[in-house]
Amino acid sequence: MTIHWFPGHMNRARRELARAIAKIDVVIEVLDARLPWSSRNPLLAELRGRRPCLILLAKSDLADPEATAAWIEHFEAQPGVAALAVDAGDRRSVRGIPGRCRALAPHRRGPGKTVRCMVVGIPNVGKSTLINTLLGRRIAKVGDRPAVTRQARRFQLDDDLSLSDTPGVLWPKLEDQRGAYRLAASGAIGEAAFDAVDVATFAARFLARAYPDRLAERYGLEEIPEAPLAILEAIGRRRGFLQRGGTVDLERAAGTLLRELRSGAIGRITFETPDDVARDADEAAPAPPGRPHG
Ligand code: G4P
Repeated sequence: MTIHWFPGHMNRARRELARAIAKIDVVIEVLDARLPWSSRNPLLAELRGRRPCLILLAKSDLADPEATAAWIEHFEAQPGVAALAVDAGDRRSVRGIPGRCRALAPHRRGPGKTVRCMVVGIPNVGKSTLINTLLGRRIAKVGDRPAVTRQARRFQLDDDLSLSDTPGVLWPKLEDQRGAYRLAASGAIGEAAFDAVDVATFAARFLARAYPDRLAERYGLEEIPEAPLAILEAIGRRRGFLQRGGTVDLERAAGTLLRELRSGAIGRITFETPDDVARDADEAAPAPPGRPHG
């Protein structure tokens, strides 16, 4: 299966986002801590140029802490970038954001100056939750269409720091199918865009490889079958999702696995580490000249 998601007006959204970014000092890029690479749209790096960026790894309460630490180190090695793991709905967890923004824009310090910040990211990553928590009140939920900040208002977070109340919305990057499956498994893409059994099979294969103990424990599996579809079947059987004739209702097993994976019931899970992403890129790269093929 190929997962597609084609939002309209991409060019317009790109222009609007470029215009909005031109008026701010620090871009706050929200990524999903469980899949920081797949939830990133590289267009943002292009649009922000050399403007400093605070990367927030949201949903870090659901992510594997060790992998989150590796991602923070990875991002902080990039010039002009700081990174912080947050639970976007938790006030204590977002407390460090203003200080990080100030440190990224020392040229905006001083009397009468304000560090202007804006939150940007793909749909469902936690942008509205974060803005609500930072502002201490509920803003209207923006649509998931990539359209930006025309009616945006600025709110003073502090005397010297302001935040646009409307996030910049980027579209998820789905050309890489591995990333698209991770996004679908994490809940970032609407259910209508994919086949649940297909995505749950991907999730089962991933969990069996990266978190076998958690998978076995959650579903009481003494042995994890090799074939991913057989894992789904085993889960369905353990939960009693049987149809007439004793076959397993795979749709139901898939729904359960995806729901429990997304809610954290299986444990704190990260779909990709910086090492995984580097390895994937190596595998995808064409062989250098002179290296024998095949
Ligand atoms: P968006 O503006 O980027 O589109 O995302 P939004 O804040 O609406 O967040 C999407 C979903 O992710 C929401 O759940 C929200 O509660 C959840 N979420 C956001 N940040 C975090 C986080 O750091 N940790 C956890 N665990 N969840 C987070 P929802 O079920 O769609 O809505 P609701 O039931 O919370 O209202």
